[in-house]
Amino acid sequence: MTDEVVGLGEPDIRDLMELEALCFAYHWTREQFLLGLEGEAFKVIGVRRDGVLAGYMAFSLIADEMEILNLAVHPEYRRQGLGEALLSRSLEISEANGTTKSFLDVKISNDPALALYRKFGYKKIGVRKKYYPDTKEDALLLRYDFPQHEA
Ligand SMILES: CC(C)(COP(=O)(O)OP(=O)(O)OC[C@H]1O[C@@H](n2cnc3c(N)ncnc32)[C@H](O)[C@@H]1OP(=O)(O)O)[C@@H](O)C(=O)NCCC(=O)NCCS
Repeated sequence: MTDEVVGLGEPDIRDLMELEALCFAYHWTREQFLLGLEGEAFKVIGVRRDGVLAGYMAFSLIADEMEILNLAVHPEYRRQGLGEALLSRSLEISEANGTTKSFLDVKISNDPALALYRKFGYKKIGVRKKYYPDTKEDALLLRYDFPQHEA
């Protein structure tokens, strides 16, 4: 059965914060989530399994650019295609909104995330030195061009 990726709203905020706490040392506050869930600052999509919020993704669409703000899959549900399902859906939504390119920052040591993004065709375009406040680790800046807009 294919996992259904759906838009999330304010009623999902408690589950989102629990999932964040499981996945990241440095995580978003309720207020940060509300910016996306209540307004149009960014979009939040998610997927449930057995009633549990198993994964979510936040991304912004500004002009013709999509930026991935966060992507996380519950540790017990990893390597089951959920990250891929969320990323695919976000790219579909973006394409339908006229997006031509996508960007994100990822920790240089985050091999699972880097493997996922590379599988989709994201390419490294830069490094942000000591970008993360928690670990002072470097970030890699990745870019993806939607197929009909490749340079
Ligand atoms: C990165 C993350 C979202 C991947 O989610 P996932 O649901 O486990 O990923 P999927 O099962 O959809 O995997 C899709 C592809 O990603 C790559 N991948 C995912 N996890 C991997 C791992 N541990 N090692 C190597 N490759 C991996 C593979 O290419 C995989 O394709 P394959 O199964 O055909 O080999 C998940 O590991 C996570 O939540 N990590 C913690 C939070 C995080 O770091 N988020 C990214 C912030 S930028």
